[in-house]
Amino acid sequence: MADFNRRRALISGGGLAALGAIVAASPAQARSLVGWNWSPARSVAGNGNGTDPHWVWDSEADPLLESLFKRGVIPKVNEALWNWERNEQPLPSGLPSDLRDFMEHARQLPQWADRDKLERAAEFNKSRGIYLNLCNGPGGGILATAIPKEARSVYYSAGGADMEDRVAKTSLFGFAVGSLDAYRPEGTCVVECVKTRLVHAAVRHLLPQSPHWRNGAEEEIPISQEDMLVTWHTLPTFAMRKMREWEVPMSDDDAEAYLHVWQVTAHMLGISDEYIPATWDAAYAQSDQIMARNMGPTPEGVKLTDVLLSQLAEQTSPLSLSRPLCNALARYLVGDEVADWDGIQREPVWDNVISEAWPMLVKFREGLVPLPMVPEVAWTIDEALRKYILFYLTKGEETKIEIPTHNRPE
Ligand code: HEM
Repeated sequence: MADFNRRRALISGGGLAALGAIVAASPAQARSLVGWNWSPARSVAGNGNGTDPHWVWDSEADPLLESLFKRGVIPKVNEALWNWERNEQPLPSGLPSDLRDFMEHARQLPQWADRDKLERAAEFNKSRGIYLNLCNGPGGGILATAIPKEARSVYYSAGGADMEDRVAKTSLFGFAVGSLDAYRPEGTCVVECVKTRLVHAAVRHLLPQSPHWRNGAEEEIPISQEDMLVTWHTLPTFAMRKMREWEVPMSDDDAEAYLHVWQVTAHMLGISDEYIPATWDAAYAQSDQIMARNMGPTPEGVKLTDVLLSQLAEQTSPLSLSRPLCNALARYLVGDEVADWDGIQREPVWDNVISEAWPMLVKFREGLVPLPMVPEVAWTIDEALRKYILFYLTKGEETKIEIPTHNRPE
C-alpha cells in the first residue's frame, strides 16, 4: 500500500506528544524531526518497513479512482452501487472491470479476522451502546473538527455544504460497525467500509482541485494513512479511554474484542496492517505519538462545530437539551483544550452540572450507586442521546454513502 513520495515532504519541528491524554499539549501540526517511530512490530501485521504514514496514501484505490474520474464513469458507478447493501451480496453488474476486481479483493476480511471476537464485540457494542454512541457520535464528531486537516477537507468537500446529510452518512457507517450483525453475511459493515474507501480515494483526487483547500493545505494530497489513524483514534481509542475514565466495568476479553472489531474496520477502510495497533497499549502509544501534532484550531473547525452542536440542540430540543447544555456536554467529552479550539462557549452553570451528573449516571447504570443519587439532568441527557441517535438512524435510512463527483460548491 506504500505510496511514498518525498517530494511532498514538508517537515516542521515540534515536540512529541505527552503520554496519557488523547490530545496532549503541543502545537498542532508540529511534526517531530524523528517523524515516526512507532514500531510495526506492535501492529497486527507484526512487521513492516516502518515508513512514516504521513507519506503513504492508498496505492490501490487512488489510481483507480483517478482513472474512473478521467473516464467520466462515477455517476454510473454510484447508480450501480446504490443497491449494494449487504456484506454477502454479490457486486452488481455494470461495474467497470478494474473497479470490480478491486472491490472483490477489498471486500475480503483480513486473514487475521477472528469471528468469535467479532461476535463478542457485537455483544459488547450492544451492552455499552449508550457510552459508545456518545463517544463515537457527538464526541468523535467534535474531536474531528479540531483536526485541522480533517476539518478543512470536510468543509471544502461536497459534503461540507450539507452537514446534516454528512452526519447521517457517517452515522450509517458508525451504526454498521456497532450493530450485532456488523461483519455477519447479512450485515453492512463491509459494504460501508469499501464504499468509504472509494469515497476517500475520490476526495484525494478532487480536493487538490479546490482553490480554498489548496490555499492552506500543508501537503498536496489529503487523507494520508497518518490522517486515517488520527481519526481512528478519535473513535475506539477515545471511547476506550473515556470508558476507563468513567470506570465502566469491562472484562479483558471484551476490551480485546472491541479493539478487534475496529482493527478489522481499519483494514477494510484501507489502513495498512503495519499501522494497525495489535494491542491497546500499542494503540495508546501510537495515539500519543500522532494526536497532538495533528490537532488544533481552524476557522473551518469552529464553523463545523457550531453546525454540529446546533443540530444536536435542534434534534433534542423537545427534551430541553438546550444549546448551553449541548455546549457543556461537548466540553465535558472533549476537554477544555479542544473545546476552546472549537470555539465552544463556556457555560458556567452547566459545565459543572454535567461533570457531576454524567459519572453518576454511569455508576447507576453499572449498578454502583442507587437511583436517588442520579441528578435529574442525567436522564435528560440519556433520553436526548437516544433521540439524537434515532434521528440519525432514520435519516440514515434515507441516504447512502456515494462517491462525490465535485467539491463544495463555491
Ligand atoms: C467521507 C468515515 C477518515 C475526510 C467519509 C464517509 C465515511 C467516513 C463513513 C462517507 C460519508 C460521506 O460521504 O459523507 C471515515 C473514517 C475514517 C475517516 C471511519 C477513519 C477511521 C477521514 C480523514 C479525512 C476524511 C482522515 C480527512 C483528513 C472525509 C471526506 C469525506 C469523507 C472529505 C467526503 C465527504 C463528501 O462526500 O464530501 N468518511 N473517515 N475522512 N471523509 Fe472520512
